[in-house]
Amino acid sequence: MEDNVFEQMAKRYDTEARIELAKVIVKEVRAELRNSKPKSLIDYGSGTGLISLELSDLVDSILMVDSSKEMSEIAKAKISYRGMTNSKVLYSDFTQETPELKADIILMSLVLHHIPDTIKILQELYNILNNGGKLIIIDFDKNDKINHPKVHNGFSHEGLKKRLSEVGFKSNEIKTFYHGNRIFMNQDSSMFISSSIK
Ligand SMILES: C[S@@+](CC[C@H](N)C(=O)[O-])C[C@H]1O[C@@H](n2cnc3c(N)ncnc32)[C@H](O)[C@@H]1O
Repeated sequence: MEDNVFEQMAKRYDTEARIELAKVIVKEVRAELRNSKPKSLIDYGSGTGLISLELSDLVDSILMVDSSKEMSEIAKAKISYRGMTNSKVLYSDFTQETPELKADIILMSLVLHHIPDTIKILQELYNILNNGGKLIIIDFDKNDKINHPKVHNGFSHEGLKKRLSEVGFKSNEIKTFYHGNRIFMNQDSSMFISSSIK
């Protein structure tokens, strides 16, 4: 986990632009979490907590998981500062080793494009979900202007649906919900939300 670029950028992560983009994502995810009050949620790749810190009133508990120690520490400090009693942080990378955990809902916001083996992480998250549980993915639509050795250049809806079905997820629904200027590696891009059931 040492060569994770997020270790270097953690303290500078919460820029105005990222906070604004997070607000757009939070609005979309909150709508998806209606009627989830008794449920447990894992925010996988939670970063500094920009998304799930705004969701804690909608669910029973939140576990924020991130493979960057520095990002995790910032999320932890925010939880403590806000006195949030139903949220915790775990420094972990499930592509290396997955702890014994269970959850009703798993959220991944702007994380999947950073993970080389997407099938592997989707499989691990599938195993953690309780039967009938939900995986919510927010990420960028495929963008041919982006070419980076360590980052997927977004995902096509059909390509992602195929991967989710291969892993075993049912009723995979995907829709684009936002277009923004220079939001993905400095390129104009759009974001999708996908919702799948185990
Ligand atoms: C672009 S940030 C998104 C943060 C947050 N989800 C948000 O939307 O504001 C991506 C985060 O994913 C984390 N990450 C990348 N690869 C990961 C992996 N294999 N396991 C867990 N977290 C990972 C990074 O450390 C970083 O905090």
